[in-house]
Parts: sequence; C-alpha cells; structure tokens
Amino acid sequence: MSAPKNQIAVTVEDYLKQASVRVNAALEKYLPPESEAPTDLHKAVRYSTFAGGKRLRPALALASFEACHGQSDDDVLLAACALEMTHTFSLIHDDLPCMDNDDFRRGRPTNHKVFGEAIAILAGDSLLVYAFELLAKTGRAECIVTLARALGTKGMLGGQVVDIQSEGKKVGLETVNYIHRHKTAALIEASLVLGAQLAGAEDDVIAGLGAFGNKIGLAFQIVDDVLDLEGTTEALGKDAGSDLEKGKATYPAVVGIAASKDMARQLVDEAKLELRKLPIQSGILELIADYITTRVH
Ligand code: IPE
Ligand code: IPE
Ligand code: MG
Ligand code: MG
Ligand code: MG
Repeated sequence: MSAPKNQIAVTVEDYLKQASVRVNAALEKYLPPESEAPTDLHKAVRYSTFAGGKRLRPALALASFEACHGQSDDDVLLAACALEMTHTFSLIHDDLPCMDNDDFRRGRPTNHKVFGEAIAILAGDSLLVYAFELLAKTGRAECIVTLARALGTKGMLGGQVVDIQSEGKKVGLETVNYIHRHKTAALIEASLVLGAQLAGAEDDVIAGLGAFGNKIGLAFQIVDDVLDLEGTTEALGKDAGSDLEKGKATYPAVVGIAASKDMARQLVDEAKLELRKLPIQSGILELIADYITTRVH
C-alpha cells in the first residue's frame, strides 16, 4: 500500500527528516549551480549549504506555520531557505581564523580551509544576500524586518561581538546569557515568528511563538556548549573541545555542566508552557523542544 498523501509525521525524527527533504529541494532550486560563474563562489556556497546540517531553523518555521494553519507553502519555503542560508552564512564566518578558527564543520573541513579566507567570507556574504532576496519574494515587509533584526547588531551580530570580546575572560551569567540570547536564540526565535507571520497569525500568537523560540533558542546554545565538552568531533561533525581551548564564555564555564543541563531542561519546560497558552496545534513544536535537550549532535 502506498503512503497516504500529506502523511503526518509521528516522531520528531520523522518530522525533521521530512522538513530537510523539502528544504533541501527548495535550496537546490534557489541556489545557482556550481557550473555558473563565478564558479568558485557558487561551489563554496553549495559546499557549506549541502554539508548535512540538521535544518532545525527551517523545520521550526514550517512547524510554526503549520501550527497556525498556514496555507501558502511556497512562501514558508522561501522563509525556510532564507533561515538556513543565513544560518549557514553565520557558520562559515564563525569558523574563520579571526573568529573561532575552527577546522571542521558539518563533518567536513571548514569553508576557508578548502576555498581560502577571501572566498569563504564572500560565500557567507552571498548566502546572506540570497536570503533577503528570497524573503523579499514573499512580498511581506514585516518578515524582512523580522530576519534583519534577528541578525543585526541587536541580534546575532551583537552576540558574536560579545562572544569574541569575552574570550579568555572570566564572565558572569549575565554576560553569557546576553551572548547566547543574541548569537543563537534570536535566529531561532525569528524562525518561529516568520512561520507564524506567513500563516497570518494574530499578534498575540506571533508573540507567544516568539517567546517559545527565545527560550528553546537559549536552551539550544546551552546544549551546544555542553556537547562541545561531552561530544566527539566525529559525532558533532565539528571540533569538540574548541570552546575550552579558546576560553569561550559558555554556560558550563560559568555554572558547570550539571547546572547547565538543568537550566536547558527548565527552559524547555518553560517554553512548552508558553505554547500551551496559545490557541494553536502545538504537538510537533513540543516534540522539537524536547529534542533540543536530548540531541547528541
Ligand atoms: C550550530 O548550529 C551553531 C549554533 C548556533 C550552536 P546547529 O547545531 O544547528 O548546526 P547545523 O545546522 O546542524 O550544522
Ligand atoms: C554559534 O556559536 C553562533 C553563531 C554561529 C552565530 P558557536 O561558536 O558556539 O557555534 P559552533 O559551536 O561553532 O557551531
Ligand atoms: Mg562562535
Ligand atoms: Mg564556533
Ligand atoms: Mg559551540
């Protein structure tokens, strides 16, 4: 018997896999082929984009859109691709020698190791620019504002600055909380908000999904810090122990591993409470929230 159309994913793994398939096909369509000039740049863009990321941010945008009964699949896929492109841009730049100076990412040598620093910087820039072109195609100015604010100086870029400036220093919880909320939670929050905006959700629902996203986003980065200490380079697909080596401001460095894990779990519980206040179908979002603390890479 063939699988029913619009088959409903029952596990979070199924959902993430199905979301990846949809997003990868859309990314394939929207990104220029390697054979098109400038070929070195297009190769570098595709190298990092199709290196096997989890596609968490696109999956969250799709799940938020579906929870709000969104209709126009084409628009949410544009937003999902824009999110993955900006995320991939942030990873390419984050790995540069002047930033975290890492050699492995998504199971392969980092972009600058293969293509050189200049092309890696330009590949990151390309993905950032393509993302806004795609989002503009939705014709929704408020969506462009959502992504721009999440990435800008009061979002991811602000977090990355304080992350770099805090290297090798003893910082407190307030600083590491600022770093994590900005460098990582802001884009995860925007993923939820974009899905809800494109579904035409009411303002209070958009705000509630944003609050959910901010909490799971912080939990996601705390778990990333823990995995840097407890994971292996092979399992993570990126350099394990990198934070310790650089004296990064992380949750485990400030409160220890056990308290970090407790905080991540508590944030996920609080996030689920935010969801339950909303008049939406939140099932898959709750499963994704739980996955954030149980993931191993
Ligand atoms: C890594 O993000 C960078 C952080 C914000 C912690 P992911 O863990 O989502 O990386 P990919 O997309 O799966 O490679
Ligand atoms: C990632 O923080 C934040 C951004 C890329 C914006 P990390 O530096 O901890 O991410 P990984 O561990 O290199 O993936
Ligand atoms: Mg970093
Ligand atoms: Mg890094
Ligand atoms: Mg990290």
